[in-house]
Amino acid sequence: MSQEHFDTLSSMKAEIESASIQTAEELETFRIRYLGTKNILKPLFAKIREIDAADKSRYGQEINALRGLAEEQYQRLQSSLQSEEDNQPHGLDLTAPGRPTRLGSRHPVSLVMGRIIDVFERLGFAVAEEREIEDDWHNFTAMNTPEDHPARDMQDTFYLKADANRLLRTHTSSVQARVMTTSKPPIRIIAPGRVYRNETVSARSHCQFHQVEGLYIDEGVSFADMKQTLLHFAREMYGPETKIRLRPSYFPFTEPSAEMDVYWGLESETDYRITKGTGWLEIMGCGMVDPEVLKNCNIDPEKYTGFAFGMGIERQAMLKYGISDIRWLFENDIRFLQQFESAM
Ligand code: DAH
Repeated sequence: MSQEHFDTLSSMKAEIESASIQTAEELETFRIRYLGTKNILKPLFAKIREIDAADKSRYGQEINALRGLAEEQYQRLQSSLQSEEDNQPHGLDLTAPGRPTRLGSRHPVSLVMGRIIDVFERLGFAVAEEREIEDDWHNFTAMNTPEDHPARDMQDTFYLKADANRLLRTHTSSVQARVMTTSKPPIRIIAPGRVYRNETVSARSHCQFHQVEGLYIDEGVSFADMKQTLLHFAREMYGPETKIRLRPSYFPFTEPSAEMDVYWGLESETDYRITKGTGWLEIMGCGMVDPEVLKNCNIDPEKYTGFAFGMGIERQAMLKYGISDIRWLFENDIRFLQQFESAM
């Protein structure tokens, strides 16, 4: 009769060894079944009376081993449940949809600048970026701006305290001098960047702003080339029907010099205000590079001619997006900037 009892022990052993649980409730069920006060091993201990005398001691050892096994298995199941819980904090819903991460948006100045660069790059202009802390020569002297020119007035220019010869560039025209002194014609570049002027900050002007400069130098470049290039630019920027006009003007570094206007129209109250009742909006300064500037930069004015232009970015961004105060463009208020999310 002993064998039957031994068989019961070994099937019980297999059952304990293969036990698996998913939840704390199942773990508790395991504990009650094998280790609780009325556990199913207890009656097996009592069965020792029915075992043949020769097998009693072996039976006793096996049933004790079974009890030990149940205890070990309980510990194992408990700690594996614990580590699973550690990996899965309560309240984490793995089926919940992800929260979208908000992409940043581009600054309106970057958007407009990018668009301008795009138009000129497609015409074969290369982007030239240069330093914002310039020396007097590149910013003024090379650009044919004499010592006593009002543009050099201390009130307009930020000079560096440590070095009276260094300043924050007042225009991107300084890049013209940088490029002309370091490369040979043909030259065809645009120079986007930040410029600084010692001006009172108001809704319409700031002490820092952005410009894009253009320079084209080669043999036989004419005023007509300039006009056609700028007309193309205006139409790419403001629509295929855009009209432009060039008004005579003065800049020390160009001769002749002009200012380019685009026709904005007079359809609304705002149009009247921003065009001062003329319908025309000034967009940039331009002209044929003055032979003096070429000479200053070691380019032979007998052989080469060229045109240059420079435009402010903030004003164009303000026009394009209907921004009425330039200060918004520098305050980086996230509520303002987020409006340009899908602007381009
Ligand atoms: N540098 C001028 C300014 O800041 C703009 C300008 C005018 C640039 C005429 C040019 C130019 O290259 O030809 O007001």
